Amino acid sequence: MSSLDVLRDRADAALMHTYARQPLEIVSAHGAWVRDADGRELIDLVGGIGVNVLGHSHPAVTRALTEQATVLIHTSNLYYTAPQVELAERLIATAFEGRVFLCNSGAEANEAAIKLARKWGRRHRGGATGIVALTGAFHGRTLGALAATGNKRYREPFEPLPAGFVHVDANLDAISATVDDGIAAVLLEPIQGESGVVPVEDDLVARVRALCDERDLLFMVDEVQSGMGRTGRWWAHQHAGVVPDVMTVAKGLGGGVPVAAVLASPRADVLEPGDHGTTFGGNPLASAAACAVLRTIEEEHLVERAARIGEYLRESLLSLRADGVPVAAVRGRGLMLAVVLEEPVASRAGRAALDCGVIVNAIGDSVLRLLPALTISEAEIDEGLRRLREAFAIARTEGGA
Ligand SMILES: Cc1ncc(COP(=O)(O)O)c(C=O)c1O
Repeated sequence: MSSLDVLRDRADAALMHTYARQPLEIVSAHGAWVRDADGRELIDLVGGIGVNVLGHSHPAVTRALTEQATVLIHTSNLYYTAPQVELAERLIATAFEGRVFLCNSGAEANEAAIKLARKWGRRHRGGATGIVALTGAFHGRTLGALAATGNKRYREPFEPLPAGFVHVDANLDAISATVDDGIAAVLLEPIQGESGVVPVEDDLVARVRALCDERDLLFMVDEVQSGMGRTGRWWAHQHAGVVPDVMTVAKGLGGGVPVAAVLASPRADVLEPGDHGTTFGGNPLASAAACAVLRTIEEEHLVERAARIGEYLRESLLSLRADGVPVAAVRGRGLMLAVVLEEPVASRAGRAALDCGVIVNAIGDSVLRLLPALTISEAEIDEGLRRLREAFAIARTEGGA
């Protein structure tokens, strides 16, 4: 039995069966590369689903964690710690004026945003607590975040969910038509990641912002997946030239360390002592890691790099057509891209890719999602796509295509 088989059996026995895991045991990782239990090196084009923005084991993150761990790992939010304040200040500097609440995951950040919107609506909109979200939205798995999530497949097994969410298609008329006296906020991902990297047009983002101004609503953006420089701007909504009232952040923020945040503009900053809290949120260890990530992105100009390398990746993906890979389109922005396939071979290609030494993420039958580190090199992209080409040849042969 291989090491993977043994581990898989142990995992089957000991871990809840909540994930359909790929047949890969990762033992270490560096930069854009991961090493499996047999010592094979694979190129990672998924980056922990958008988490490892600096690649694996970036020295800045390792150093920050090591140094912070020797002086102070955790206290509680009953006291002040400098890394937490620095993190909030750094986030504000990349985004907009306001204040920050620190927590641990994307779902948790969205929970806080939902509570904030409800309190704001009670105070400023005659008791309105409703939130308009989009049909293809994914906001997380906790009950409030799940209620905001559009996909019924995720929601229905866990009903009853908190009330007060309306889902509409991504168009202004539909959104506008749902806004009544009961609505307090509109929540959207500028690029919907989990539903297959589906961008909301900049023009629509700008119009929704304007609608929120006209109808006195909060405009809330979930940048959990699209943020941290990945799309070629610090935050994807910035492509539309707008400023939201509330923004949620997670995934890449800690470069692999669980940490998340909610930013609220002065208009939306309504939470007070006793309204919300979390034991671990923004603890010194996580905050030090996140500060290191934000500092490194800035120092190494990785936001601009994501835009540039993202174009290179997009062009390279489109050029796979010349080798018979059934690429219908490449969508997304910067280093948040999806290959849309003309044939339903995505999961077979994803599996074959592992054998060929490259990690990609299949979504449904016909989409491959790529969220590589912002530090990935052109040579690594070339090698990754060479391996992906091989994987497609295998997948299409297996499928009789
Ligand atoms: C846009 C978006 N929001 C929220 C979440 C939930 O984040 P977490 O898994 O950290 O709770 C995700 C996770 O994929 C996401 O992509």
